[in-house]
Amino acid sequence: MDVRGAVAVVTGASSGIGAATALRLHEAGARLVLHGRDGDRLNALAERTGGVAVRADFAEPGAAEAVAGEIAGRAGRVDVLVNNAGMGWAGPVTEMTAADARRLLTVNLAAPVELTRALLPALLERPRAAVVFVTSIAGRAGVAGESVYSASKAGLDVFAESLRLELVGTGVHVGVVVPGVVDTEFFARRGRPYQRRSPRPVPAGAVAEAVWKAVVAERAEQYVPRWLRVPIAVRGTMPAVYRALSARFGGSG
Ligand SMILES: NC(=O)c1ccc[n+]([C@@H]2O[C@H](COP(=O)([O-])OP(=O)(O)OC[C@H]3O[C@@H](n4cnc5c(N)ncnc54)[C@H](OP(=O)(O)O)[C@@H]3O)[C@@H](O)[C@H]2O)c1
Repeated sequence: MDVRGAVAVVTGASSGIGAATALRLHEAGARLVLHGRDGDRLNALAERTGGVAVRADFAEPGAAEAVAGEIAGRAGRVDVLVNNAGMGWAGPVTEMTAADARRLLTVNLAAPVELTRALLPALLERPRAAVVFVTSIAGRAGVAGESVYSASKAGLDVFAESLRLELVGTGVHVGVVVPGVVDTEFFARRGRPYQRRSPRPVPAGAVAEAVWKAVVAERAEQYVPRWLRVPIAVRGTMPAVYRALSARFGGSG
């Protein structure tokens, strides 16, 4: 897909992976719709890229649908949707309140599902279009202390896979980018900084590059870094070995 002149919506564009993705798409000539909550950061990025800023808190009921309506009104059409906005939560599930769990599932799963559902008719009107989901290795492997976060990302992952099957024969490509540990504000924001010595965090630009390839080269699935596919392959083929190893080396970041 050629993104020159395409309208690309990036959620969570005010920070980290989303900001890097927006800049990558801008470099390639896309017209940006930048979503987030932080108005100052969004406006700065909109000014730099000539994009349109749309503010919304995805934890609010109906926010994603309202964003879809605003995008239709302000951009007129949509060629690329990058579902990236998300938040973390770390700690034992027993320390989580019902409201914490609901918020995590709403922001990370219900909102991108709702935004995709609402924008799909517009995407289907385009000769070529793409929807990319930024999921997480946590959603493929499971992580101690991140059970609800992992569940939200696993849900998004299988939503994407199902959508890909549903859209076979249309012009809409569906891609998933599965990052490991990425050097962003994500860990500080969730209240528990990343403290492990390995794996080392990759830069947000590496994930943005994968999102870019998901769009232009129509890649269905990419791990960042690529070696992450190995433990997932072991999990699929030798689950007992995988569980023994992950009980020893896995755990919260
Ligand atoms: N960093 C990692 O190691 C890692 C690994 C795997 C997957 N991921 C995923 O990558 C995505 C981007 O995360 P990041 O690492 O770039 O973290 P980040 O720097 O904290 O960025 C998160 C983005 O999501 C937006 N967001 C968070 N809560 C929101 C809400 N309630 N409503 C609307 N927008 C909200 C933020 O908007 P504001 O800043 O404007 O509030 C921000 O733009 C997330 O889905 C995350 O789960 C991250």
